[in-house]
Amino acid sequence: IFHTPELVPTKTDADCAIAVDVLRATSTMVTALGAGAEAVQVFSDLDKLLETSDRWAPEKRIRAGERGGAMVEGFDFGNSPLACTPERVAGRRLFISTTNGTRALQQVESAPIVLAAALINRQAIVQHLLDHQPETVWIVASGWEGSFSLEDTVCAGAIAHSLQAALNCSLDKLAGNDEVIGAVSLYRQWQDSLLDLLHHASHGQRLLRLECHDDLNYCAQTDTSTVVPIQRELGVLVSEK
Ligand code: MLT
Repeated sequence: IFHTPELVPTKTDADCAIAVDVLRATSTMVTALGAGAEAVQVFSDLDKLLETSDRWAPEKRIRAGERGGAMVEGFDFGNSPLACTPERVAGRRLFISTTNGTRALQQVESAPIVLAAALINRQAIVQHLLDHQPETVWIVASGWEGSFSLEDTVCAGAIAHSLQAALNCSLDKLAGNDEVIGAVSLYRQWQDSLLDLLHHASHGQRLLRLECHDDLNYCAQTDTSTVVPIQRELGVLVSEK
């Protein structure tokens, strides 16, 4: 587990990399694909997003831009998963740039398998790992501008905890992996009150100041989606069938 994208080594030697941004980028991506978006294309740079999406017919694209939790002026969406209804996204490509989540995905884009995880699709991600059995898995918690985040670490812990149960693997077997033990312990402590944890988290507090209560309620749910966003080509994620 890497607690921020900044800590990820530039050369990826993982067989599978999982980017996590519970609040809210990966929750939004899972929701958009679940609502029928044909793909999600991620950008760290807003100008590059505009330039690329300009080549698409307006009725086939949605531009989502977020900085500091707020919607970027002139974009169709900010970064609320609740905006991604089938009526608005089905059959369209979501072009998205967010403060941290899309950067985390770009940081690991050279891994052989790249996935996007949130609490809402935790079990689907675990099932993918059990089905494909990659030897080395990196979980990259997006954090906030290089800082640790509670919500992404708890999601990494939720994935590891569920894998541990499925593989019947005791905590002793994880000895020496401080990040995983820490994340699993955090999840065990908060698993029945994840919404409370999101309310305590610094980015949760930022979103509450921006009146995004419903987004927190939505992103705190576990295992409500079976969508596994997987990178099909550089920076482009689709729903795994
Ligand atoms: C990010 O990428 O930092 C987030 O998804 C921010 C947000 O809540 O929109």
